Amino acid sequence: TTSILTDTHGRKHSYLRISLSEKCNLRCTYCMPHDGIPLSPRSHLMTADEIETFAKVFVDHGVTKIRLTGGEPLVRKDFTAILARLAKLPVKLSITTNALLTHRFIEDFKRYGLHDINVSLDSLDAEKFKFITRRDQYKKAFENIEQLIQEGFNVKINAVLMKNFNEDEIVDFINLTRARAINVRFIEFMPFDGNAWNKEKLVSQAEVINRVTDHFGVEALQPLPNEKNFTSRNFKIEGFQGTFGIISSVTNPFCDSCNRIRLTADGKLKNCLFSNEETNLLKPFREGEKLEALIDAALNAKKAVRAGMTDFDQLTNPDLHSNNRSMIAIGG
Ligand code: GTP
Ligand code: 5AD
Ligand code: SF4
Repeated sequence: TTSILTDTHGRKHSYLRISLSEKCNLRCTYCMPHDGIPLSPRSHLMTADEIETFAKVFVDHGVTKIRLTGGEPLVRKDFTAILARLAKLPVKLSITTNALLTHRFIEDFKRYGLHDINVSLDSLDAEKFKFITRRDQYKKAFENIEQLIQEGFNVKINAVLMKNFNEDEIVDFINLTRARAINVRFIEFMPFDGNAWNKEKLVSQAEVINRVTDHFGVEALQPLPNEKNFTSRNFKIEGFQGTFGIISSVTNPFCDSCNRIRLTADGKLKNCLFSNEETNLLKPFREGEKLEALIDAALNAKKAVRAGMTDFDQLTNPDLHSNNRSMIAIGG
């Protein structure tokens, strides 16, 4: 018998992303609508107990890695309690955060074995940071990233690229990897509800490569082998300690090797980042139902590529992409 986490395309899903909160202490324009999103009433959100129970079900069926997301996962008041519960499971724990609060959790991360920390940082310029996040917090974010590196965490920096905003910072970002053993990833701007996406704002994988070779030279750019269930295609600049990568969900998707499923903070299972056909697990669970059959059905409905938006033109069609949630309520 195959696991309920294997889909009809033969992909085994061993990586669960759990969104802990719909709230964030930043307000990035590419992630949420200007006036925010309607928040779920607290009673509709998974409790720490429920998160632990759900995680166990997924781990029993083959999940070996859990990433905590948001919103901003660290704004959740019971974050440490959740981490402590998940740390009892045989899984690799990781988090994606904006780093504004990480200084308060260094000891918790260490105690509970959370070693892999991905940090969203879209500009190295304080004014631009303020413009995109609508909060004047660049200094704190960068200071905390340096602290995480010094404390020995495995740090990746995520920068969403946008035309006429930060594409001129690609080289500056890569220069961070000269003397830091980190991975900087450039992310193609993706369309979600309320984020004013259009293809003119996209900076593609090909454009990033062009800028890099223009600056560093073709010889200095060393492609690295793809990891097993990669999102980013990685490279190294000769002689640099760290690496950089490009996450090209828009122009060059990597769905063939997808092993990811998502739980939203309100307990809905998303079989794909781009899927709006969600499976409510929380409500049936509270009514005493077993989750296995629901999970199995959700996985079996998973499309081969981007929830069915196979080619670029489909992804750019607002009728197809705008009925998904805003990114802040998905967790990336
Ligand atoms: P690792 O666990 O370190 O591989 O990180 P990750 O790239 O999976 O996660 P992260 O939260 O750092 O997300 C970085 C970017 O990749 C974000 O823009 C996510 O939306 C995007 N991303 C993460 N998982 C997927 C996925 O399954 N499909 C697509 N298309 N994009 C993804
Ligand atoms: N396109 C690409 N990446 C996005 N993220 C948030 N919104 C978008 C978007 N529209 C990224 C964040 C974070 C990760 C979880 O998803 O920068 O690093
Ligand atoms: Fe997996 Fe969907 Fe992401 Fe493709 S777009 S890698 S199918 S989650």
